[in-house]
Amino acid sequence: MWSELQTDKEVQFSIRNATLNDVEDIMSINRISLPENYPYYFFQEHVVEYARAFFVAEVKGEVVGYIMPRIESGFSVIRSFPNFVKKGHVVSIAVLPSYRGMGIGGNLLDYSLSHMKSDYGAQEVYLEVRVSNDVAIRLYEKKGFKKVRTLKHYYMDGEDAFVMAREL
Ligand SMILES: CC(C)(COP(=O)(O)OP(=O)(O)OC[C@H]1O[C@@H](n2cnc3c(N)ncnc32)[C@H](O)[C@@H]1OP(=O)(O)O)[C@@H](O)C(=O)NCCC(=O)NCCS
Repeated sequence: MWSELQTDKEVQFSIRNATLNDVEDIMSINRISLPENYPYYFFQEHVVEYARAFFVAEVKGEVVGYIMPRIESGFSVIRSFPNFVKKGHVVSIAVLPSYRGMGIGGNLLDYSLSHMKSDYGAQEVYLEVRVSNDVAIRLYEKKGFKKVRTLKHYYMDGEDAFVMAREL
């Protein structure tokens, strides 16, 4: 899948499925953007396992953003127990600093969520976000996510996480 889009700042970007050739670029965006980093094989496995919901954004052929998903089966994060569901998990999402605030992150999220549902049959989606990450929380709320619980000291540096989720 590949489609051409235009940001409100006239930057043309395209969204397409990630391939194994993108892993180096994805790792560098991850290291620039987030304290939570992962080894090469971790990205590789997710590209192979969840390719149809794993997307990158490109500007003039340069990869400038990614969304790394996972599909899981387990108890619902939203519905009362015992609801066993197929759920999407946004493991990591980031856009290079100079390309933020242009709609790229929002589009990556839209594409991945719709394919979590259409290609993997996921009924809901969830993610963890640092309680201090206002920009990301605002993006997720704009896309219909709600805070469902707080995980105390979830991050290595001790910060708490919000678990946010929505139906698909
Ligand atoms: C979170 C992130 C992926 C958003 O990507 P992005 O391309 O900037 O997002 P968009 O341009 O699509 O913005 C979507 C919404 O996010 C919010 N947002 C984005 N940039 C913002 C900013 N600088 N200030 C305030 N809100 C902002 C707004 O709600 C925006 O909607 P609006 O433009 O209608 O106001 C990006 O900021 C990023 O890579 N941050 C560092 C890594 C990170 O925190 N990842 C998430 C970890 S859980």
